[in-house]
Amino acid sequence: MTLRPLGPDDLDLLVALDAATNPHPWSAKLWADALVRDHGIGAIDDDGVLAGFAISSRVLDEAELQLIAVSPAKQRQGLGRLLLKALLAELRQTGTTQLFLEVRAGNTAAQALYAGCGGEVSGRRKGYYPAPNGREDALLYTFTLNGAAQ
Ligand SMILES: CC(C)(COP(=O)(O)OP(=O)(O)OC[C@H]1O[C@@H](n2cnc3c(N)ncnc32)[C@H](O)[C@@H]1OP(=O)(O)O)[C@@H](O)C(=O)NCCC(=O)NCCS
Repeated sequence: MTLRPLGPDDLDLLVALDAATNPHPWSAKLWADALVRDHGIGAIDDDGVLAGFAISSRVLDEAELQLIAVSPAKQRQGLGRLLLKALLAELRQTGTTQLFLEVRAGNTAAQALYAGCGGEVSGRRKGYYPAPNGREDALLYTFTLNGAAQ
């Protein structure tokens, strides 16, 4: 498995992997904009297939994780942790002090990943996400980086 930056040429791969992992996938237009504006890390397996990604944006010394996902066939093999730790290391190197993200209250798999990588719950947004039976809360997670190596 290798990690590499993602760019506009990866659009089709990302749209496909997002559709396979996200109950509310982004449109191709949103992805095209993100690949120009934001920072993407892709995990490429030994067959050259995109197995996972993390997309983040940065403003001054703060960053936000927009989306992280691993192909269903590759989940629970440490790839999500690899991607998130790689992003955190990059952010530390660039002097970023905090990473924020929002996650569905019911997404316990992602929450376990975030907690295991040092994220802490820092808030809750009531009814933030659309859900099949109404709305679902978002939990806010904060990673404090302080620019220090870990
Ligand atoms: C969340 C996600 C990225 C995790 O990726 P992954 O490669 O399966 O995660 P890892 O194998 O690196 O697991 C790291 C830790 O996360 C937690 N975790 C991951 N999947 C889990 C699950 N299904 N149930 C409970 N804990 C889970 C565990 O603590 C795990 O550590 P462990 O294996 O030592 O117990 C993956 O489940 C996914 O793509 N989900 C769909 C997209 C999504 O919900 N993204 C997050 C919101 S943007």
